[in-house]
Amino acid sequence: MKLTDEEKAMRDGRDGRAVARAMDLLIRYGNALDAESLVETRNVCGTVTATTPFLRDFAMAKGGDDAVYSEFNLDSQEVVPVPRVKAFSSHLQLGFDPHHPELMGVDEQVVAFYRRSEAMAARMGVQLMNTCTPYQVGNVPTRGEHCAWMESSAVVYCNSVLGARTNTEGRESANAAMVTGRIPKWGLHLDQGRLGELGVELDMPVESVEEWGLLGYWMGEWVQNRVAVVSGVGQVPNLPKLKHMGAAASSSGGVELYHLVGVTPEANTAEQAFGGRKPVEVRRYGPAERAATHARINEMGRDTQVDYVMLGCPHYTIEQIWEAACLLEGRKVHENCALWIFTPHAIKSLADRNGYTDTIEKAGGLILTDSCSAMSRAVPKGTRVVAMDSVKQAHYLPAILGVQAWFGSTAQCIEAACTGRWRNA
Ligand code: F3S
Repeated sequence: MKLTDEEKAMRDGRDGRAVARAMDLLIRYGNALDAESLVETRNVCGTVTATTPFLRDFAMAKGGDDAVYSEFNLDSQEVVPVPRVKAFSSHLQLGFDPHHPELMGVDEQVVAFYRRSEAMAARMGVQLMNTCTPYQVGNVPTRGEHCAWMESSAVVYCNSVLGARTNTEGRESANAAMVTGRIPKWGLHLDQGRLGELGVELDMPVESVEEWGLLGYWMGEWVQNRVAVVSGVGQVPNLPKLKHMGAAASSSGGVELYHLVGVTPEANTAEQAFGGRKPVEVRRYGPAERAATHARINEMGRDTQVDYVMLGCPHYTIEQIWEAACLLEGRKVHENCALWIFTPHAIKSLADRNGYTDTIEKAGGLILTDSCSAMSRAVPKGTRVVAMDSVKQAHYLPAILGVQAWFGSTAQCIEAACTGRWRNA
């Protein structure tokens, strides 16, 4: 891989041992990918903090934060002092909500260790957004901006909706990018990697959050990690719909980028999205595909008595919290059911100020932050049946926790929370 003089200096230790280890990692990674060079990035999203008992024990045994940082963030056997970041970096979701450790099944010792680890991340200069949706709380890259992001639902939003450029990074490469401002230039950083290969023609209106999730799930199953171009979009989708669509597509497949003709920034026309080439294959999405997808997502649901309603995957926007609060106003969550809504802590502050948290709590629901049920592996005690308005969470939660899952609209989920029963629409 070709390195600039600046990159060689970082590799050779000019900026300290941690930066040298980070450059070593990026060079090995870039060579494995056949990347010709590194690209400069000023925008990284990754996980820095240590939240698990395993990492805590490792820190205790090996001498503290530097050892955990070196081993797990830089893949370095050599213990190096924790550096400060060069690129604007934001922290992704955590393994639990530190304000509700008891609900997350986490003890005080783990919370105390986490607080120490979070303080380290803050000293490094990492923004503690603690969400899978950094683009709704202050990290909004611009079109063409080179980024280094982890988290599949964030990556697909970054590429498709914002037109910024990132591959799906891992914990180590994202951390190396934070302290060097570099990432291998390959895949979706290159114009060629961003062109459409497959075509989707819509034969039905796709308008609600639920419908965009179903389309995303169907599309991801088919295209896997190839780039699809969707034509025939009617009503222009908003942030919650595109957030949901991308999360679904990256769950059933490995979708990192899609184009919506006339909507997303690299698809003013189908010709632009395909780069003048013909699609390899075109499929149509209509009522039959939609019905089969809906049935497939709901195949883990059997009992109609619902124990837990989980909303906020990906983390809810303020608009979605407002909608949930409106649906809950003057109602009560059923005594045999729990309602948890997940959002970034910055949005929770807004919900507090607007009175939505109060409305939701008066109804018996809870707003949680920083994590989600799948990440935390946490559901209310005794949960057997979960209802949710997220295809992604419905895809993962039964596999992770062995629960039954129902997927539907937000209104259906709130109805289930208040009646304790799932009713198909
Ligand atoms: Fe976010 Fe958890 Fe869903 S981290 S995308 S809410 S699985």
